[in-house]
Amino acid sequence: MALKRTHPCGILNTQHLGQEVVLSGWVLRRRDHGGVIFIDLRDRSGLVQVVFEPKTAPQAHQTAHRLRPEYVLSVKGRVRRRPEGMENPKLPTGEIEVEAQELEILNPSKTPPFPLDEEVPVSEALRLKYRYLDLRRPGGLEPLLFRHRVAQAARQFLNAQGFLEIETPFLTKSTPEGARDYLVPSRLYPGKFYALPQSPQLFKQILMVAGVERYYQIVRCFRDEDLRADRQPEFTQLDLEMSFVEEEEVMELVEELMVFVFRETLGLELKRPFPRLTYQEALDRFGTDRPDLRFGLELKEVSELFKGTRFKVFAQVLEKGGLIKGLCAPADFSRKELDDLTAFVGQFGAKGLAWIKVREEGFQSPIVKFFSEETLWALKETFQPSPGSTLFFVADQPEITHEALAELRKHLAQRLGLIPENEFRFCWIVDFPLVEWDEDEGRYVAMHHPFTSPKEEDLEWLEKAPEKVRSRAYDLVLNGVEVGGGSIRIHRKEVQERLFRLLQISEEEAQEKFGFLLEALEYGAPPHGGLALGFDRLVMLMAGRSSIREVIAFPKTQRGQCLLTGAPAPISMEQLLEVHLLPGWEKEA
Ligand code: AMO
Ligand code: AMP
Repeated sequence: MALKRTHPCGILNTQHLGQEVVLSGWVLRRRDHGGVIFIDLRDRSGLVQVVFEPKTAPQAHQTAHRLRPEYVLSVKGRVRRRPEGMENPKLPTGEIEVEAQELEILNPSKTPPFPLDEEVPVSEALRLKYRYLDLRRPGGLEPLLFRHRVAQAARQFLNAQGFLEIETPFLTKSTPEGARDYLVPSRLYPGKFYALPQSPQLFKQILMVAGVERYYQIVRCFRDEDLRADRQPEFTQLDLEMSFVEEEEVMELVEELMVFVFRETLGLELKRPFPRLTYQEALDRFGTDRPDLRFGLELKEVSELFKGTRFKVFAQVLEKGGLIKGLCAPADFSRKELDDLTAFVGQFGAKGLAWIKVREEGFQSPIVKFFSEETLWALKETFQPSPGSTLFFVADQPEITHEALAELRKHLAQRLGLIPENEFRFCWIVDFPLVEWDEDEGRYVAMHHPFTSPKEEDLEWLEKAPEKVRSRAYDLVLNGVEVGGGSIRIHRKEVQERLFRLLQISEEEAQEKFGFLLEALEYGAPPHGGLALGFDRLVMLMAGRSSIREVIAFPKTQRGQCLLTGAPAPISMEQLLEVHLLPGWEKEA
């Protein structure tokens, strides 16, 4: 490199007029205007126009003929004002251009598989395969830059609060967060495996026993589960844990952390305290423990109101102990739209969607004929609908009624444009049940993880009526997305053992799986608790993106593949033999 860079491209402006600069970057576009060649030169900071004129710099101009998109170059030149009428107000460097004197081509480029200079739609598969080109597109690095700033702000805050950043092992034993583990076969111990951690849960608790008091880590977690737009097989947590605290202190600290990070990175002032909803209240009002509080459309229970109804569908559901709920949408819908909405809730198992149109003259629906005057009056009281709106009802088993209506609520809010942009509505969900009954496994399972402490006052129910016991867990929800979860932990061995018994984890199994934790609890474990934020999800929401893949440098596809490297990939016989995954006789052969 003969030319040494002096300035980034994107910062040049009229203050640099007349200055000699050396720029390095990539060719975004080349235009040949009858002898004069224009290059849009791009680096991380932005882009600037470079002009090669045959008269003033014949040699550079000659070389510039060879430039093609994505060639890498250094250019020396002088900053000058663009001729009148040629300014580009959309570009920060739009008032100036650089008149080239010397050009050095550092590396040519093959023609990219998709244009980098236009907002043409490119399939995600192609973008992920050529992720380095995708990121090189104008604005491509923005999400990563923003993610960096969020991470730095979080670190700054936590460091100032006395937290230690400590790394924990990746090659470890299975951690029970409820997903499947990724396994790593051991070469030295035939038939034995490491598991990649689903979270640093056990290590961070042990760090509390070790006297660390305040720990955090921005850490990768690995979970082999079905993927969605906001799930990846490896994802990042901002994980933290504190000693000698109760729920309130952890929640306050996390709120302060959020306030700091939003202020530092977005210049936004969040309102504290964040609202708190019990799990039950969230289900009642929104049908989900991840409510989006940016809009209304709350659910109302109407089971009682339809008791004894002549409408068979509702009557039958009620007989079977089902649940009828509804919501009021401030809009009218065509027949076709109503059919579409019925199909929409069908995806979530609802067998139908009853609707009533509210008109000045009264209710209008094929089903109102089944309802008494009292019922209609009670519906009015419950929903207070204004003319022009539509009531929707789902009758089913509670889980289905809730999920179908929770999804319908989101869907309608989107369709009707009820979601304000640039609004961040946090809330805490508290008072979760400690355990839930798992039909498939025929046993209780922990709603969070088995180290979550039950509420002291509910402990007496642990054996008698487990579903009544509330946990000391709290989830942080932002705009309808679960961005964090945590709890006060069990720090006494007896309680931990009682819980394992309830979860039908035998003593041997508990010993084998997390005997090290149980033992640590016997050596003076302090009361402790913490939380983990889904860092990718948080950054996604803050950056206004719709998938966590957009804020991850090298994300995997929905099917868990890395299209850039081709992982997962086959491995050689030798490697399989080495880790004892092939029968031994082949090794001898
Ligand atoms: P939990 O399992 O709730 O808690 O995880 C914490 C947060 O991590 C995010 N998250 C994910 N993000 C992307 N892809 C995934 N596959 C994925 N799975 C989870 C969510 C979630 O809220 N050890 C406990 C924390 C604790 O108790 O302190 C834990 O891991 O935003
Ligand atoms: P039907 O009596 O099957 O013609 O249904 C009359 C109306 O009730 C239709 O709009 C159906 O979509 C709706 N419906 C059917 N089953 C349910 C249900 N489980 N919950 C809510 N609405 C339903």
